[in-house]
Amino acid sequence: MVLQAIKYSRGQLEILDQLKLPHSEEYDHIYSSTDAWHAIKEMRTRGAPAIAIVAALGLAVELVNLKTSPVAEEVKVFIIEKLDYLVTSRPTAVNLADAARKLKKVVGNVQSSEGEAVREAYVKAAEQMLVDDVSDNENIGKHGAEWIVKNTEAGKRGQVSMLTHCNTGSLATAGYGTALGVIRSLHANGSLKHAFCSETRPYNQGSRLTAFELVHDQIPATLVTDSMAAALLRLKGPSENIAGIVVGADRVAANGDTANKIGTYSLAILARHHGVKFLVAAPRTTIDLQTKSGEDITIEERPGKEVTLIKGPRHDGVTLDLGVVETVSIAANGIGVWNPAFDVTPAELIDGIITEVGVVEKDSDGVFHLDKVF
Ligand code: MRU
Repeated sequence: MVLQAIKYSRGQLEILDQLKLPHSEEYDHIYSSTDAWHAIKEMRTRGAPAIAIVAALGLAVELVNLKTSPVAEEVKVFIIEKLDYLVTSRPTAVNLADAARKLKKVVGNVQSSEGEAVREAYVKAAEQMLVDDVSDNENIGKHGAEWIVKNTEAGKRGQVSMLTHCNTGSLATAGYGTALGVIRSLHANGSLKHAFCSETRPYNQGSRLTAFELVHDQIPATLVTDSMAAALLRLKGPSENIAGIVVGADRVAANGDTANKIGTYSLAILARHHGVKFLVAAPRTTIDLQTKSGEDITIEERPGKEVTLIKGPRHDGVTLDLGVVETVSIAANGIGVWNPAFDVTPAELIDGIITEVGVVEKDSDGVFHLDKVF
């Protein structure tokens, strides 16, 4: 069975409620752009590519099921207003803003005066984004796996162990995944010895989502807490000898600085210290040439309770109820909390940016030329 975060057919959209994973697999219906906005804001759906696709398709189902105006210009205004609203749901991942910009262009280019023509053009373009994301991810996986096998000592000998952070798999995208797609591809080629995933505090995307995907796909894998990463990189056991760290991205600036889930920057520093490759895997929709460097990226700050409270299945001392989730406080009452959802890894710590059209490396002056992939 293939893991699917997004189930779509024309006029119907369902998302896997990621707040309930790994304890229960429940799908929510999305009927409109308002439903999509809430699903994104509340983190029921997440991951940069998935957010963009749920937003685009949420509006598509609304347009299919709604009686829209017969006048093209009025439908265009409606779509543009809804796209602007959807972009306000979360600020850091650029894929959503990129999708909105492209969809506005599609509807702007419709010459017909019929509202129906605008609606059809929008829906087709949104549906195409779903299809493209899966094939882009498969290509990211292929390029990333080839690069790792060619550019690491362990890869040249035959098999690598990799560490990844946050969730970048089928649940964070339309399917297959970016960084986790690279690990899937290494596994499919017989080149993966072992995968490690970090817990990814405070929201635990690693332990709840990535671990769920690794178990689902029967990929040999081990979970570590974020604080164990340095110790893991020092280990020299046959499986633990990490050849590289591969992560996803929420926004890659023109100079290669990369915003990704909080904790990514620490891993990049650790990789450099231990002489381990550090790779970012992202579709070109995550590369934002308008953002010059990481300093220009807005980092979302989230509620402190995500740090002070932890959710888990209810345990009454006798049985573990997997259907019911309980929240438990794990911090002193009254403590102040800083909870940035992302951090920025400077380009100098990144060895390669894996895209669907190949791996971008720095030139001899240490500069990424990301404009070359467009
Ligand atoms: O806050 P989230 O759960 O949406 O964050 C997800 C991440 O940071 C992912 O690592 C990133 O979006 C890459 S998605 C393939």
